[in-house]
Amino acid sequence: MYYPDELIEEVRTKNDIVDVISGYVRIQKKGSNYMGLCPFHNEKSPSFSVSGSKQIYHCFGCGAGGNVFTFLMNYENYTFQEAIKELADRSGVTLPEIENSAQAKKEADKKAVLLEINKEAAKYFYYQLRQEQGKIGYRYLSGRELSEETIKKFGLGFANKTSNDLTLYLKKKGYTDEQIIQAGLATADERYGVHDKFWNRVIFPIMDINHRAIGFGGRVMGEGTPKYLNSPETPVFDKSRNLYGLNFARTARKNNMILCEGYMDVIALHQAGFTQAVASLGTAFTPGQANLLRRYAENILLSYDSDGAGTNAALRAISILREAGLTAKIIDLKPYKDPDEFIKNLGAEAFQERIDSAENSFMFEVRILEQQFDLHDPEGKTKFHREIAKKLCQFSEEVERDNYTQAVADRYLIGYENLRKLIHSYAAKTGLAKPIERPKSGVVQKNRPEENIRKNQRLLITWLTEEPHLYNKIKAYLSAADFTDELYGKVAIQLFDRLGKEGFSPAGIISLFQEESEQREVAELFDTKLEMLATPQEKEKAFKDVLIKVKENSLEYYSGRLGSDVTAINQVIEGKIALENLKKTHISLQV
Ligand code: CTP
Ligand code: MN
Repeated sequence: MYYPDELIEEVRTKNDIVDVISGYVRIQKKGSNYMGLCPFHNEKSPSFSVSGSKQIYHCFGCGAGGNVFTFLMNYENYTFQEAIKELADRSGVTLPEIENSAQAKKEADKKAVLLEINKEAAKYFYYQLRQEQGKIGYRYLSGRELSEETIKKFGLGFANKTSNDLTLYLKKKGYTDEQIIQAGLATADERYGVHDKFWNRVIFPIMDINHRAIGFGGRVMGEGTPKYLNSPETPVFDKSRNLYGLNFARTARKNNMILCEGYMDVIALHQAGFTQAVASLGTAFTPGQANLLRRYAENILLSYDSDGAGTNAALRAISILREAGLTAKIIDLKPYKDPDEFIKNLGAEAFQERIDSAENSFMFEVRILEQQFDLHDPEGKTKFHREIAKKLCQFSEEVERDNYTQAVADRYLIGYENLRKLIHSYAAKTGLAKPIERPKSGVVQKNRPEENIRKNQRLLITWLTEEPHLYNKIKAYLSAADFTDELYGKVAIQLFDRLGKEGFSPAGIISLFQEESEQREVAELFDTKLEMLATPQEKEKAFKDVLIKVKENSLEYYSGRLGSDVTAINQVIEGKIALENLKKTHISLQV
């Protein structure tokens, strides 16, 4: 579903960002901008700024930012399309029904029917829980200390002991056997014909972020097997792209998310006030789910079972989270098995204390690694130290590696210098890990050399956005390719195409990106803090410095790619000439 760019732009320009944000946040005029307390993180003094002239917002505290669409995506957790719809309504713009191909329409219809069936089934299970035959289920849930309110909130239900009443019910509603099977609610075999998949189980409906039932999990009453039965994947249920509880957790507005293993864990945590808890869906945690989490938090707290299986699952989740650029910490639940039991026995306050003292994921990994070695034996100890050194090579940034080296040396009483030497000898053999390239990430790692380069590129883009007349003066020296960050390069192409045209606004460029995390980064590009410089001479010098730094980096970047990138050679030749000329030229900032 895509709307044409012009239409998106019409909706955007009809919704003044200052107006829209004022409806959510108290902002006051300060100079040319409006300032207020940031709604996306806790703060006491305002660092949230809204610019009427640029039609963007940006928080200097937490880095949130974007145009009017991004704001709604961020605040209401809307998708881009939903934000467009909302603002079109608000400003009286009629959006066309998107024309779909016949095939796409059939797919959409099929999905709509499956969602309808799931909704009917969820209602049916919910109703059964409150009937005579469902009492056993209700008693089970109360026995696990779930309140009526919690049972309602999660829409818990019951599948009767009889084996085809749901199927009969759905058929009476007009759905075919085939559709019910496709929804994953029935199976067919020669002996019993078409019959219910779930029976004699309490039911956990699995909701997507829009609170629509997309699948079900069912826990057997008593000791039957399997203990948990889950819907199969269907056209509306992609297990690797959904998380149990995310429909509530995404609006929890904590600065972390708690990842656990089971449905009951999520529910118990929410009931105890930890509404940021989610779980994967009866399958192992996936990279797709990590990406989903990345939209809501940078810090993930793992609350997996404290047994061997749980620990292994946690180790896998840690590497997946790390790949996705997220920080993980591990909550210690001992002496209890899972968060559900923990809360029941020690309560919410004690759990909060465990959150506060959660263990760094690297230190957790090393602690688990330690168990494989006999530290009383010099041989075992040496092997352990070697493994640690190898593991420390994963940190490419020196400061970070050093901090971890220090921490591990302290904890395991290893000589710091010895450990450092060991790391260097491994690094010499195998090389330090390259930082993971993640151009789409909304999570920006600070303090790296690359970060300085990107900062200069941002400064230049902001500067050109604020003083568009400068572009004509420097365009002979600069091209979009000089912005070596992938996202920045894309923005530069759009920006250079529009600068100087009538009605140019940087906020329009933001709408060209669909993902909230990209929109945030693009907004940051247009709103980097420019230093306040007193004299025109200082300003001129600063501008030229930034320009030269961007060009120098570009030259270095393309020189390193001469063998692998066909455009590199031109970039290098032009870059050298441009730099030479630039150094000789005076660029006045006067209009
Ligand atoms: N699970 C599953 N199939 C099983 C066992 C478990 O799909 N046969 C999934 C379920 O999503 C379950 C999660 O793994 O919620 C965690 O399993 P377990 O620790 O056994 O679940 P608990 O929530 O502790 O179960 P119980 O109801 O006994 O508390
Ligand atoms: Mn449990």
